[in-house]
Amino acid sequence: AKLLDAVTEGAEKGVIPASIFGDPDLYRQELRNVFGRCWVFLAHESEIPAKGDYVLRKIGEDNFIVVRDDEGEINVLFDACRHRGVQVCRSDSGNTSHFRCPYHGWTYNTKGNLVGAPLWRNAFGGMSKENNGLASAAKVASYQGLVFGTLDQSAPPLKEYLGGMAWYLDLVFGLNEHGVEVLGPPQRFVIDANWKSGAENFSGDDYHLGTLHRSVWEIGAFPVPFHENMMGYHIQASPGHSLSFSMAQDANEPGPNYFGFPDELAQSFNTTNISADQLEVARRSRVFVGNVFPNFSMLALPMTEDGSNHPPVGILTLRTWQPHGPGQVEVWNWFAGYKNLTPEQKDRAYRAGLGTFSMGGAFEVDDTEPWITVSRNGASTAAELLDFQLNYEMGKPGVGISKPVKEWPGPGRVQWTRYEEGVQRNMYGFYAEMMRSAPGQWPSLVFPEDAAAD
Ligand code: FES
Ligand code: FE
Repeated sequence: AKLLDAVTEGAEKGVIPASIFGDPDLYRQELRNVFGRCWVFLAHESEIPAKGDYVLRKIGEDNFIVVRDDEGEINVLFDACRHRGVQVCRSDSGNTSHFRCPYHGWTYNTKGNLVGAPLWRNAFGGMSKENNGLASAAKVASYQGLVFGTLDQSAPPLKEYLGGMAWYLDLVFGLNEHGVEVLGPPQRFVIDANWKSGAENFSGDDYHLGTLHRSVWEIGAFPVPFHENMMGYHIQASPGHSLSFSMAQDANEPGPNYFGFPDELAQSFNTTNISADQLEVARRSRVFVGNVFPNFSMLALPMTEDGSNHPPVGILTLRTWQPHGPGQVEVWNWFAGYKNLTPEQKDRAYRAGLGTFSMGGAFEVDDTEPWITVSRNGASTAAELLDFQLNYEMGKPGVGISKPVKEWPGPGRVQWTRYEEGVQRNMYGFYAEMMRSAPGQWPSLVFPEDAAAD
């Protein structure tokens, strides 16, 4: 409780206790109050297009089968047999009409209903199959092809939970009427780091690029110089959810536009599904990076696949930071693309993605090492005894060059220049509120000034 008080107070001031990156008691509370309550990203609809398609995913540390049933509905089923609790699904993905438990053979359909078991009459004749199916997530919903689930019956509807972030998701995923699909299964890798390091980084830690990722410029893989790339907007879309756009102040500055997506593709971007304002923000953007609280991140940016003098290609990645104890995270990383990309463009985007944001990628290898030391120091006795506080003050009033912006077409609290850490303060402010929330009660999902304006 003391640690959480410090986070609430610190999220305002810009100081966060280092111990939140390593405290085991806090971690157990995160599983319950953050992952057990929030809407958690599970899959993209394009991963399970056909009836019977399924993928095995996680909410917190727990396995859920995300499956499309015979009616085309997506169900999210707790992967635990009703008989003795054995894990039923033993494959990461596939297509099936039934899930059969390996222990005694209880068999469930794609809605999770129990449909039979071996020697049923002898063993269970007279017993009802009803109420003996797999348990389901409390709620399941999709937005822009992104499938989320929550274990909390009292959770607000997904759209309300996403709040201001929905406007920005539209702007990336709804750029044309074809929509987005994933380019193959996710890469997965384990890092000895706390899940929050990834989530706060993708909330808009643009400042680390010039130091940690310096080599990316040295090999010529990214087309915008460091300081120029720090120009743009930091946006607290709504409580918890933050994002960042790299963008020149002059709207007529030459590209890269549309996150570096190829010109032929950009010609298909239009206002069928989004507003002219949203289209214009996307047009001017060189980089988009954001995090839907707690652990779903996205990134779109121009990148060359090999640092050669190929023109950069836009890549879009989706990722989750899946907690595995206070000191370990499993990263799942999908590359995605617009459905109307040519096969060659998809291939280039995928390879550019692998070369940058996968386990061996030029960016990824840089990022993971510092986060490992954050969690090690967060778990340290010294951090606890010294009450060691981390600094999140960049871009506060009077600190640095960033300033609040009034003129902006989208929702949220907006700052000009990305020399700014309000995006992280926003994440931790909401984190502390979720951590303290009582069962059935939800913190506000809108900023006070937006609530007043309604
Ligand atoms: Fe699944 Fe017995 S534990 S059938
Ligand atoms: Fe990085």
